[in-house]
Amino acid sequence: MNIEQGISNVELIYFPSSIVIPCSILDIIFGIWSLTLRILSGIQPSGKLHIGNFFGAMRQHLRLQAEHNCFYFIADFHALTSNPMPAEVFGHTLDVAIDYIALGLDTEKTIFWRQSDVPEVTELTWLLSCVTPMGLLQRCTSYKDKVAQGLAPNHGLFAYPVLQAADILIYNSDLVPVGADQKQHIEVTRDIAIRFNNAYGVVFTVPEEHIIESVAVVPGVDGRKMSKSYGNTIEIFEPEDSVRKKIMKIVTDSTSVEDPKDPDKCNVFALLKLVASPEELAEWENKYRNGGLGYGQAKKRLAELMIDYFKPFRQKRNELENNIDYVKEVLAKGAGRAKAVARETLEKARQAVGLRR
Ligand code: TRP
Repeated sequence: MNIEQGISNVELIYFPSSIVIPCSILDIIFGIWSLTLRILSGIQPSGKLHIGNFFGAMRQHLRLQAEHNCFYFIADFHALTSNPMPAEVFGHTLDVAIDYIALGLDTEKTIFWRQSDVPEVTELTWLLSCVTPMGLLQRCTSYKDKVAQGLAPNHGLFAYPVLQAADILIYNSDLVPVGADQKQHIEVTRDIAIRFNNAYGVVFTVPEEHIIESVAVVPGVDGRKMSKSYGNTIEIFEPEDSVRKKIMKIVTDSTSVEDPKDPDKCNVFALLKLVASPEELAEWENKYRNGGLGYGQAKKRLAELMIDYFKPFRQKRNELENNIDYVKEVLAKGAGRAKAVARETLEKARQAVGLRR
């Protein structure tokens, strides 16, 4: 599904098997189901968010709020798996919270909280761990990737997908919008939910993944996927001058100005696609293919468009930065609402496994 379309009721009628039927009569009959979807996603607090985070997932999260019941949380327990400096953990959580609120998180409607404020999720992690086969976790590529990148292979990192499953299952989520790199974790969640339900009776909703396909890869300034760990990011709210400088440094090939260029192989064009209007994008595409275009021209325009895109939100971000108490209040209120749901599910799970009668 294209991110521009978001998930509207016409495109996504929810069936347990996630069949998508773009049919208006069925839409009317089943539309009510899609209206009541519970959407959940978690965001790792790795510091200030970058445009890869925004176009890769956040924009979709924000758009979904209008039509669905959204549960979004900051996954600070998960962040500990990579052993961040203690002095940074809370600050990173606040940075993510401020960015989300500044960019349009609906603090009334959407439930937005910090994962560790609802520690019930760790108890559920234990109950789920006891039905999770080792082999299931051993197959997870993100664990192997992170260890290959040099992270210490600690137990938390290995068990990461079980905590993620608990996040999803404790809130009875129907749909989990994530980037392609999280697909396997959602499959693991489904597997765990099915195993638990088979063993102890149905306690959990088996969630559907929703992979945010079209923008799965936003290139960073070096052309690799934009990622904090590669040091190739452009932060959403970094000073405008620094956005300009970084954009001017984006890696391009060495085709000379006169030669025709392939827009689909160009990092600058990939970013232009995110912020230019369709008409303007078509013009750039022509200029690329016809030759006579210097990459510097495209970069300058990209910088302008990127800065304009986020301009309206900068003011709001500044206000929030000067009102951290308000941000904390939003998270505390969200935690209270999330906790009510989590407690109920946890109690059912405790009863199902026989800890309570
Ligand atoms: N693992 C996710 C990521 O790195 C973050 C996450 C934690 C999450 N718990 C989740 C995402 C539950 C979706 C649902 O992006």
